[in-house]
Amino acid sequence: MNDTNVPYVTLNSGVQMPQLGLGVWKSKDGNEVEAAVTAALKAGYRLIDTAMVYGNEGGVGKAIRASGIPREEIFVTTKLWNSDQGKGNVRPAFEASLKRLGLDYIDLYLIHWPMPARDLYVETWHEFEKLYVDKKVRAIGVCNFEVEHLEKLDKHSTVTPAVNQIELHPRFAQTELREYAKEHGIMIESWSPLGGTKGSILGNEMLIQIGKDYSKSPAQVVIRWHLQHNLIVIPKSVHAERISQNIDVFDFELSKKEMDMIDSLETGQRLGPDPNTLNGN
Ligand code: A2P
Repeated sequence: MNDTNVPYVTLNSGVQMPQLGLGVWKSKDGNEVEAAVTAALKAGYRLIDTAMVYGNEGGVGKAIRASGIPREEIFVTTKLWNSDQGKGNVRPAFEASLKRLGLDYIDLYLIHWPMPARDLYVETWHEFEKLYVDKKVRAIGVCNFEVEHLEKLDKHSTVTPAVNQIELHPRFAQTELREYAKEHGIMIESWSPLGGTKGSILGNEMLIQIGKDYSKSPAQVVIRWHLQHNLIVIPKSVHAERISQNIDVFDFELSKKEMDMIDSLETGQRLGPDPNTLNGN
C-alpha cells in the first residue's frame, strides 16, 4: 500500500482500486510522461491511467518498472482505441498495449468510446469478457458510455462493467449516470476532474474561498468534492509540485453545505466530445 491515505474502492470484480490516481492524457511520451509518473509514484500515487491513443504507454511502463515498486502495488489502467473495436481486433490491440507497457497484465482495461453509430461495442465487450476470464485483466470497464449504452451491454452480456470513466467536474456533474451506476454496481471515474484548461473553474471565487478556510488550493477542493461523492478521480498534471498537491487532500473534509455550493456550479455543458456523436478514429 502507500503512506498517503488514498482510500481503495472495491470494484464489482472484487478488485481493490485506489480512489485517486494520475491521469496522463496529453503527457508526451518520453521524458515528460516518465517524469510525471515517477513524481506521482514518489508522492504515493498507486493508480496510473493511460490509453493507447495517448501514445505514452511506453513511457508509463518504463517509469513503473524503474520505480522499483512491486507491480502488484500499482494499479494500471489503459484503454482500447476506437479503430481497434470489433471481434478480431481486440486481442491484438490488447497484446500490443501490454507490450508497449512492458507488463504481463493490466489491472483495468476500458473501451474508450461507445461509438454508437458503428455499433461494435457489444461484440467488443464480449472480447473484453474473454480477456477477463483469461485473467489477462483484473477488471474491465468502459469510458464515455451513456445510460442507453450501458443498458444495451447489460442486455447482451454477462459481466457488468466495473467502471465507467466519464467527463465529470462541478460544471458537468453527470447526476443521471451516477444514479444509474450506483444502482448497477458500476464505479464512476471522473475525467477532466478539474474542469479542463479552457475557462477553468480553478479561478472560481467560491472555490478559492472554500480552499482558504482549509489552507488548500481550488484544485484540492475540487478533488475533495469528487472523493466525497464517491467518485474515482484522476487529475492530470505534468508538474511535480501539482502532482504532490493533488494527492494532499486527505487531511480535510468539505461540509455538506460546501458540497452543495460546489454542486450548484452545474451548467450542463460538456467540455469534451459528446459520446452519442463521436464515431471516428
Ligand atoms: P498541468 O499539466 O500543466 O499541471 P483536467 O481537468 O482536464 O484534468 O485539466 C487539468 C489541468 O489543470 C491540466 O492541464 C493541469 O495542467 C492543470 N492542473 C493540474 N493540477 C493542478 C493544480 N493543482 N493547480 C492548477 N492547475 C492544475
